[in-house]
Amino acid sequence: MALNESMLEEFGLAPLWVRRGMTARDGQGDAVAAQAEEPLQSMREDANDERRAEPVPESASEPLRVSSADTPPPQAQGESAARVDEPAARREAASPRPDASASPNFDAPPEDDFAWFDDPNASVPAPAEARREAPALPAIHTLDWDALAERVAGCEACRLCEKRTNTVFGVGDREADWMLIGEAPGENEDRQGEPFVGQAGKLLDNMLRSLALARGTNVYIANVIKCRPPGNRNPQPDEVARCEPYLQRQVSLVKPKLIVALGRFAAQSLLKTEDSISSLRGRVHTYEGVPVIVTYHPAYLLRSLPDKAKAWADLCLARATWLANGGAPSNESK
Ligand code: URA
Repeated sequence: MALNESMLEEFGLAPLWVRRGMTARDGQGDAVAAQAEEPLQSMREDANDERRAEPVPESASEPLRVSSADTPPPQAQGESAARVDEPAARREAASPRPDASASPNFDAPPEDDFAWFDDPNASVPAPAEARREAPALPAIHTLDWDALAERVAGCEACRLCEKRTNTVFGVGDREADWMLIGEAPGENEDRQGEPFVGQAGKLLDNMLRSLALARGTNVYIANVIKCRPPGNRNPQPDEVARCEPYLQRQVSLVKPKLIVALGRFAAQSLLKTEDSISSLRGRVHTYEGVPVIVTYHPAYLLRSLPDKAKAWADLCLARATWLANGGAPSNESK
């Protein structure tokens, strides 16, 4: 009985195979058992091919479980789930053999209590019912500042929640004309829960000062991604997609007159483009109806001093755009 039982479950064939296998074991159905084994053999090969093509999950060493969306989660299956995982030998020893004189009847329910037979009386909640039990959270675009900050702090919408120390929500004047948007928290930001607190943040503060701006006074700073990607890897598209509603809500609450996208990643994420940063600089784009200026990331400028002059030109364009969009120099810090 080399066939992996969990694979049989994967294909929904466990009851069929077990019944046929039992008949064969009792010397009454060798032909039937052979028939049953034949398609399963080819499925076994197909399934192996398919699994090779899939990315290996962290839990790859665990046995395959039924993964159909219609299948209740293990905890919902209660006792029967635990019994399905028992070694086959124990299960076999505990189960009465069918009467050898009885003729095989594949449509009738078996005369034993194998855990894996469908029990029409079992009270397993349907997945839709189980989902209904969790109260729906209010939509992100309806949240006020406090509710939004709380939602981000408890967010588990993607894998980045697993390794973060803190979420990094945003900082500054929630009614600012200027909104600066970076990529994602780094190590320092993850530790302190505030954007741009490392060396790049110091440079950013200096750049802002040259425009009579400051993060505590007339600027709001946030990131596209609210949790640190492990090892500072690039955020993945699904992580950006799951985090974007938070940024969209921040923008709609701040109502800035201008957004500055800091670096290639922020620019490409906001503008939904793969164009290079050099082709995006020097023009006015829009995000959620707000004018956007693209400039280099301060961390890049720390390594590439010649591009600081270009960044200064970007900030001048940003200021002109802000003034053209109703910005008043009286809002600048003295
Ligand atoms: N880089 C970013 O893009 N954001 C931060 O908050 C820190 C570094």
